[in-house]
Amino acid sequence: MVGGNNHTGIKSRMFIKRRIKKKKITKAVIPVAGLGTRFLPATKATPKEMLTIVDTPAIEYIVREAVESGITDILFITSRTKHVLENHFDINPELEYSLKKSGKEEQIEKLREISSLCRFHYIRQQEPKGLGHAIYHAKVFAGNDPFVVLLGDDLVYNKEKPCTKQLIDVYEKHPGIVIGVQTVSNEDISKYGALKYNCSVEDRIYKVSDLVEKPKKEEAPSNMAILGRYILTPEIFEALENTKPGAGGEIQLTDAIKMLCNKIDVYGYDFIGRRYDTGNKLGYLEAVVDYALRRDDLKDEFLKFLKEKI
Ligand code: G1P
Repeated sequence: MVGGNNHTGIKSRMFIKRRIKKKKITKAVIPVAGLGTRFLPATKATPKEMLTIVDTPAIEYIVREAVESGITDILFITSRTKHVLENHFDINPELEYSLKKSGKEEQIEKLREISSLCRFHYIRQQEPKGLGHAIYHAKVFAGNDPFVVLLGDDLVYNKEKPCTKQLIDVYEKHPGIVIGVQTVSNEDISKYGALKYNCSVEDRIYKVSDLVEKPKKEEAPSNMAILGRYILTPEIFEALENTKPGAGGEIQLTDAIKMLCNKIDVYGYDFIGRRYDTGNKLGYLEAVVDYALRRDDLKDEFLKFLKEKI
């Protein structure tokens, strides 16, 4: 369990669903405390979120997705080794001075734009006790407001409407917890949290009745995998206070949401977009290639190179 032992009301409200009062979503939480052991040695001294997709750190794509979806405040749940990430979203007067001296004013503007994307907030998770434990650190930041969670390893590309905006639109119509999902193969479901759903409320939106974190493939309730995007409501914090360590001995966000399925509305939303697992070497390479091919300044020459290679 995390935090105190506040059991108020959890049992007494069982099966009587509380209606969620809809509020505008302007806050996002991005947990970045992980050690990135899947990407060693690159992550020995560099946070995994700072690995570049072409010329931009992976985390900047995530932040831009949030900002393009209407987010004005981002809380990073960070750790001792992530100050480089904080610096990326801050101003850098020495670099700006040097660029000015060499007449590269337009570069300064580009750098300033990054630090003015939104308001950035930071809190440290002292021990890596799981995603649920990390999210609990957002309790004061969230207050009574709903908020978005974006996981740094999951990059989603959708030119028309960012994944986070899609989830916010679902919440606007169906206030409650909204979990971004996509179908994965039988082989892959054990890497994720999986949904059990009763029915679809409308196209791509499912009413969730249960969740299992990292199920064995023969025990998975469906192939709908949680893929790094959530809209959470403040009820999550009370649930997290009562969540015991689960898969991998960690406090799992999936287990806390599972506890809420009978108390508030929980939806799974099959989002539209190409998702990359950048925490995985192959997924990372796929992202680099695709993002490079989407760039006007690179695509022609890069495609020529790829064709020659193949
Ligand atoms: C986390 C969540 C899991 C989700 C996954 C998506 O797992 O606990 O439910 O499916 O992110 O990337 P992790 O990858 O941190 O083990």
